[in-house]
Amino acid sequence: MEQIFIKGLPKVELHIHLEGTLDTNLIVELAEKNGIRLPRPKEELITFSGLADFLELLNWICSLVRDGSDARRLAYRFAQYASGQNIMYAEVMTNPTHWKALPYSELIPHILEGFEQAYGDGYCDCRLLVSLLRSQTRREALEMVRWMKTNRHPRLLGLSVDGNEAESESSNRELYEAFWEAKNAGFGVTVHAGESSPAAGVTEALDLLGAMRIDHGVRAVADERLLKRLSEEQIPLNVCLTSNLVELYPGVDQHPLGKLYELGIPVTVNTDDPELLGIDLCGELELASGAYGWDRADLVRLEKNAVRAAFCDEETKALLF
Ligand code: ADE
Ligand code: ZN
Repeated sequence: MEQIFIKGLPKVELHIHLEGTLDTNLIVELAEKNGIRLPRPKEELITFSGLADFLELLNWICSLVRDGSDARRLAYRFAQYASGQNIMYAEVMTNPTHWKALPYSELIPHILEGFEQAYGDGYCDCRLLVSLLRSQTRREALEMVRWMKTNRHPRLLGLSVDGNEAESESSNRELYEAFWEAKNAGFGVTVHAGESSPAAGVTEALDLLGAMRIDHGVRAVADERLLKRLSEEQIPLNVCLTSNLVELYPGVDQHPLGKLYELGIPVTVNTDDPELLGIDLCGELELASGAYGWDRADLVRLEKNAVRAAFCDEETKALLF
């Protein structure tokens, strides 16, 4: 209904994985360039059932990226694509554990360079968050953060953690030093929680890892006290509607996004892994506004929530709205 308004609305994306932005054409191109045989016909490349299978698919897709120029190219392509959606600013996560052919010390600078070139050419202002995998050890996590501290870049803004949250309690004990070290060094910190973990995963992300915002967080809806806290402390939840329909909820009507918004929690709408889910940000905002009866003012409010939740400096924010 609000298709044209949504397309024209300046937008911000805060929960998106670079790994999930490669479209089939790019996947095929990279495979050909790097002499890798496709395991299935092109039309069936993107298939998965459940989170574990999905994470494996990410590993395979990222294994196609063999050198710095591939990484630069896909970072640049994402910024171009985002501009086509009128996304003005994006914080893109990348989890170096998926990119087996490139060490993070090579991968990250090339992604940052791709973003920088794209911005210089007038495309979306993309920043990077480095994401740890839930199963990483204390040593690996600390090594990553120390590398970030000694290789600062204006487009490298923060640390996150993704993957399967099932063992998040023990994983939080492994990761908390790295998270606090990152936060104390001025990086933004965000945590995937309340997706494959229950509401307690969100509370732990806030209290143990010092999360400044939460990726997903939707299962907080089962805990009234936590909901009150999220609203009172204005803790942003970066929600991904369609992504949650794969395993968590049967349809948008059962998804808690409308309720979280009504409670005054600063929610944002995002795509997570747009190409793998076959979605885009405009479509997600349309889906949400249709399901929850949001009008134009609500959509503007969501985008303002995203600007407020961003990890960039205030000057950049002032340019956004
Ligand atoms: N990595 C990429 N997408 C993810 C998701 N939805 N949950 C956990 N890890 C991810
Ligand atoms: Zn995610």
